[in-house]
Amino acid sequence: MSKSVDNIPYGKHFVDDEDVAAVVDVLQNRFLTQGSIVPKFEKALATYTGANYATAVNSATSGLHVACLALGVANGDRVWTSPISFVASANSALYCGATIDFIDIDTETRNISVEALERKLANAESANLLPKAIVVVHFSGASCQMQEIAKLCRKYKVGIIEDAAHGLGGSYQQNKIGSCEYADLAVLSFHPVKSITSAEGGAVLTNDETLFERSKLFAKHGVTRDLEQMEGPSEGPWYYQQVALGYNYRLSDLHAALGLSQLKKLDGFINKRQMLAQRYNQMLKHLPLTLPTMNNADKSAWHVYIIELNEHKRDAIYAALVERGIGVNVHYIPIHLQPYFQKLGFSRGDFPNAENYYQNALTLPLFPSMTADEQDRVVQALNEVLA
Ligand SMILES: Cc1ncc(COP(=O)(O)O)c(C=O)c1O
Repeated sequence: MSKSVDNIPYGKHFVDDEDVAAVVDVLQNRFLTQGSIVPKFEKALATYTGANYATAVNSATSGLHVACLALGVANGDRVWTSPISFVASANSALYCGATIDFIDIDTETRNISVEALERKLANAESANLLPKAIVVVHFSGASCQMQEIAKLCRKYKVGIIEDAAHGLGGSYQQNKIGSCEYADLAVLSFHPVKSITSAEGGAVLTNDETLFERSKLFAKHGVTRDLEQMEGPSEGPWYYQQVALGYNYRLSDLHAALGLSQLKKLDGFINKRQMLAQRYNQMLKHLPLTLPTMNNADKSAWHVYIIELNEHKRDAIYAALVERGIGVNVHYIPIHLQPYFQKLGFSRGDFPNAENYYQNALTLPLFPSMTADEQDRVVQALNEVLA
């Protein structure tokens, strides 16, 4: 029987009194939304990541949609992403009327394979089927090989959106993930299991002023008060115009207050995640498992810690760990195997690396408030079930 009292979850937010006070302060003041806190949060996110501009939105899913719209993704366009991601990475393109395709993963990094991308781009060029954009996913918090990806995308004039839902707090080549050094736009998530939380929330980052203006427009009903974006003159101080079909993807000041307060703790959270990941690697190295690679040059945000079990033992080990109160999980079922995507024409066998990885992958608990005792319990349980 599972021990529900001390179950260890796979992920958990950390909210302290300071965070609570920041939210209460907004509740006791004039604006619950569209006040001064969202702009402060946006500025703080831009400063932290090094991107020029940030637009806060109500989820990363909204942010990915906005990023696709900002790049002009529309009916008839093609967008490619990784099959090993949450479905939102692919859905954003579908919302715009584009078709989606996938690039298989690299078995070591679990991010999209640069070689697979290179081959696919060359074939697509010959067939005149190049994508408008690719959505690269910094899976588990470790950056994709952005320099190589950007070189290829520049050659074929393909836009780059970074799905950095897992990546806030990580770095690539001395830059923070989200800096957009090698991408048109990057999207963050503040869902509770992510690096920081605003309950629900996300942000769209860019260094390009036009993409920033377009992101803001699509996230706010396509409505503008900026004379330069209007058709014809203003009719008065109250005047606004809808100049595009946008959405209400705004973040509220309540959510932003939590996010802004959490941002102060981000580096501490990431250091703790990194320490726990290193400790797992050390304590699990004698077991018959594939451990995540530790890249010394770049810093992972360690959103999740994933082991791969050899010989297809994953399902049994998953069940045995749950039985011992260990909240394991699986990230992710390859998107192209989802019934919705199968109906779009994808089949089992299309992306073999992603499918093999999925058969073996198991996410172990990892969150900033995890204690050494809790981690020891996970390791002890794994030792028992693999004995
Ligand atoms: C890689 C990735 N992209 C996008 C999302 C969507 O994030 P949100 O829940 O903020 O919409 C998630 C959420 O799990 C994710 O893991």
